[in-house]
Amino acid sequence: MNHELPIRDLVELLPTAIVVYDVSTKEIIFANPAACKLLKYDKCEDVIGLVVTNFVHPDYQETVKKRIEYMIRTGMTAELLVEKFITKNGDEVLVEVIAKPITYKGKNSILVIFYNISEKINMEEQLKQSAKLEAIGLLAGGVAHDFNNILTIIGGHAELLNKKIINSEHEIIAPVIKDLCEYAKRKLKTINDATNRATKLTNQLLAFSRKQIMSPETININEFVVKEKELLKKLIREDIEILVFLEPGDNNIFIDETQLSLVFMNLMINSKDAIQDIGKITIETKTVNFDDGDFNKQKQMKEISGKYVMIAFSDDGIGMSKEIQKKIFEPFFTTKEIGKGVGLGLSTVYGIVKQSNGFIWVYSELGKGSTFKVYLPKVEKYVVNINKHIKVKDFSGTETILVVEDETDVRDLIIETLRDLGYKVLSASNGFEAVKVAKEYNKKIDLLFTDVVMPKMDGRESAIQLSSFLPELKVLYMSGYTDNTIVHRGILDPGTNFIQKPISLNSLAEKVRSILDNGT
Ligand SMILES: Nc1ncnc2c1ncn2[C@@H]1O[C@H](COP(=O)(O)OP(=O)(O)OP(=O)(O)O)[C@@H](O)[C@H]1O
Ligand SMILES: [Mg+2]
Repeated sequence: MNHELPIRDLVELLPTAIVVYDVSTKEIIFANPAACKLLKYDKCEDVIGLVVTNFVHPDYQETVKKRIEYMIRTGMTAELLVEKFITKNGDEVLVEVIAKPITYKGKNSILVIFYNISEKINMEEQLKQSAKLEAIGLLAGGVAHDFNNILTIIGGHAELLNKKIINSEHEIIAPVIKDLCEYAKRKLKTINDATNRATKLTNQLLAFSRKQIMSPETININEFVVKEKELLKKLIREDIEILVFLEPGDNNIFIDETQLSLVFMNLMINSKDAIQDIGKITIETKTVNFDDGDFNKQKQMKEISGKYVMIAFSDDGIGMSKEIQKKIFEPFFTTKEIGKGVGLGLSTVYGIVKQSNGFIWVYSELGKGSTFKVYLPKVEKYVVNINKHIKVKDFSGTETILVVEDETDVRDLIIETLRDLGYKVLSASNGFEAVKVAKEYNKKIDLLFTDVVMPKMDGRESAIQLSSFLPELKVLYMSGYTDNTIVHRGILDPGTNFIQKPISLNSLAEKVRSILDNGT
C-alpha cells in the first residue's frame, strides 16, 4: 500500500498559487490551477512559457530582481514578502510570496508560492476607516452637544431683544433712540443669520455622529424619488440631465423623511459639482437580498443579511482618485475651493444612513464618474409616524409650567420667553429641586419642560416622580442629542414630546401650546 500523500493531487487542489520557473530563461515551466486563476488565465497551458517577471508590477521589479539574485547566490529560501502582480487583464493584485531554489525536471528552477491578500488588506483598511470615523464621530457629537446650548443662548437672546425692540417701536421715542433701534435690529439680524448657519453646521455634525433625534416613517422610495426629483431639478443646472430608473414594487423603507431629503440633496449637489459642463445624473432604485448567493460572495458583507432597498446615484463627472475616496466621509474633508464646500455633506449622509441601519458604498474612477449606493433595510409592514406635528396659531397661555434645566443661561432664556407669553413659570436646576419646587407650590402644574441629561436626577426620572403626585402633568423633553433614557437608537418612544436643541424660541412657544391643547 502507498502511504505517501499524492503530491500531484495536492498541488492541483491547493487554493494557494504555485509556479515553477527556469532560472536561466525566467520562463514558467509549471503552474497549478490556483496560480492560473489568480493570474486570470482560463487554461493553465497558456501560462507555460510566459516570463514570470512580466507579471511583477514595475514598483516591485527591483526587489524581485534582488530576491532572485539572492536565491541563486545562496541557494536559500527567500522569505515571505508582499509584492504586487499584474494579471492578464491588467488588474493589480497584492500577493504574499515565498520562493525557493529547486531542481525541476533537471533544470535549475525556482519554486514560487503566493496568495492573494488584496481582499484581506481591503477589509483591514475598511475596518480602520470605520474605526476612525467612529472616533471622529464621538468627538464631533460631543462638540455639537455643547455648541447646542451655546447657540440656544446666543440665538435666543437675540430673538428676545429683537422682539422687545419691535414691541416698543410704536411708542414715542427720541430720534436718536429710534436710530439706535434700527441699528440694533440690523445687527441682531446678522447675529440671527450667523446663529442659523452655526445651527445648520451643528446639526450636520450631530447627523454625522448619529446623535440626531429621528422621527422615522415608512416611505415608499419610488414615490419619494419622483417627488424629490422635481425639487432637486431646481438645484441642478439645465445642462445636466436627471435620469430615473425605478424598480416597480413596494420598496418601503423606514427613515426620517427630512433626513432622507438631506441624503438626496447632498449626493445630488456633489454630482452636480463633479460635472463640469454637460452631463447626466442617474438615480436608480432596486431591492437586493443579501441572503442570495451572489452577495454572500462579497466577504465585506458578512454582517449584513436580509432585504435592502438600494438607491444608486451615478454621475459622469470628474470622479475621484483612490486617495480621495478614502477620506470623503470624514467631516471637513473637501477638495472644493474655500467658500464652495465645507466638507460636511457626505459626513451627514454617512451618519444618516448608518443611524437608519443602512450602509453606503462608493465606486469611482478618475475622469469617468462616481456611483454612490445607499442601502437601507426594506420594511414590509406599514409603520405609522409617531411624531406628527399639529400646527397651532396663538402661542400664548396662562397655564403653569415647570422648567428644569441645569444651564442657568438656557433656563433664564426659556423662563423669560414663557413668561412673555403669559404663562406662570416655576423653575429648577435639576430633578431633585424640581420635585421640591412642585411639592412646595402645592397647586396644579400643567407642563413639565425638562432637559434630559442633568446631574443628580435626570429628566426622565423627575418626570416619573412628579407624575406620581401630579397625575395630569404633561411632559416636554429637550435635549441636544439622543439619549437612551427617552430615545432608543435615536427613535423617540411613542408618545414622548420632544424638542431638539438648539431651541428656536418660536418653535418652543408653538410646541408648548400644542402640547397643552392637544397633548402632542
Ligand atoms: N460625485 C462626486 N464626484 C466627485 N467627487 C466627489 C463626489 N462626491 C463627493 N466628492 C468628493 O468628496 C469631497 C467631500 O464631499 P462632501 O459632500 O462631504 O463635501 P463638499 O461637497 O466638499 O462640501 P459640502 O458638501 O459640505 O458643501 C468633495 O469635496 C469631493 O472631492
Ligand atoms: Mg457636498
